[in-house]
Amino acid sequence: MPKLSLRRVLTYLAVTGFSTILFILVLNNIYWHDTNRTLISKELHDVISPSSYRYILNQPDLCEKKRPYLVLMIPVTLREIEARTAIRKTWGHESLTSGVTVLRLFVIGRPVQNDPTLQQQLERESKEYGDIVQMDFVDTYHNLTIKTMMTMNWIAIYCQRARYALKIDADNFLNVPYLVNYLHAKGESLREDYISGSVIRDGHPNRNSHSKWFLSEDIYPDTSYPTYVSGAAYVFSTDLALKISLASRFVQPVPLEDVYVGLCLRELGVKPVYATCFLRLRNLFEVRKMKYDRCTFASRITVNGFKPQELLYIWHDFQNARFTC
Ligand SMILES: *[C@@H]1O[C@H](CO)[C@@H](O)[C@H](O)[C@H]1NC(C)=O
Ligand SMILES: *[C@@H]1O[C@H](CO)[C@@H](O)[C@H](O)[C@H]1NC(C)=O
Repeated sequence: MPKLSLRRVLTYLAVTGFSTILFILVLNNIYWHDTNRTLISKELHDVISPSSYRYILNQPDLCEKKRPYLVLMIPVTLREIEARTAIRKTWGHESLTSGVTVLRLFVIGRPVQNDPTLQQQLERESKEYGDIVQMDFVDTYHNLTIKTMMTMNWIAIYCQRARYALKIDADNFLNVPYLVNYLHAKGESLREDYISGSVIRDGHPNRNSHSKWFLSEDIYPDTSYPTYVSGAAYVFSTDLALKISLASRFVQPVPLEDVYVGLCLRELGVKPVYATCFLRLRNLFEVRKMKYDRCTFASRITVNGFKPQELLYIWHDFQNARFTC
């Protein structure tokens, strides 16, 4: 069977919500028939699977209506109102690029303690801006892998026609025109199996139980991580959303979402690409904190470590970059 039509079949199955069993059989027998992969247990997979959770707020028709080229998927928590407001006014503003549609979506779970006032506020925001998707899993740092799988699932089901998606944390600066030009410059050839950002090649699990990044040997016995892309921001061709969702059936969950995506990519045989500017060996997805400088920032795609107020503060000045840098 040619690869393309298989992919169509898989997409069709995913979208029409065919039974999971059939799905797995197709996958196991055709797509990965030549290796010895084993499915993880259903109980384990259910924890991270979006099908275990229900949408509280969704935007199912958004992509069909707007036909975006690029979708920005931004994980935030319910209470990060200030961050959402700042992003809407700065890099998430949808009119930054002419001729190309860029969509913005905030991806949210539910808080540990229900907060009806904040929830009502979110629902008002959702009505006003149409940029919220929310599912009913508990939204904690340890559950970010669920959030990422929810993001992948959402794109696979509602937004396959977009060319690219960017998963980006709210505490970043983002240069949308640079990113769009960068993706355009890649041409059509990289439309599939493309994922790029700040690539980490020599990662290994942190065994210090007090660390934020701790991973026990029970959960992850291996002593190193596969190549993965820093979770601060990574861009990918939307075909990967479905493929990563499928691959997750074979990959033991870990609470580090970027490492988890890396594990799924290894399963798929997809290698992340480092986003650099060739001449200057400059990392375009900057994970260090950097002092704001108009022309330095004009030559980056993302810079990490911004509070909402700082973002608003630099944004006005940054608008002059295209005339002066
Ligand atoms: C799959 O496993 C079997 C038995 O353990 C082994 O004989 C075979 O070589 C393996 N195949 C691959 C492709 O690794
Ligand atoms: C993750 O989300 C699930 C589903 O809502 C919840 O049962 C679990 O307690 C959460 N785990 C953590 C560590 O927050």
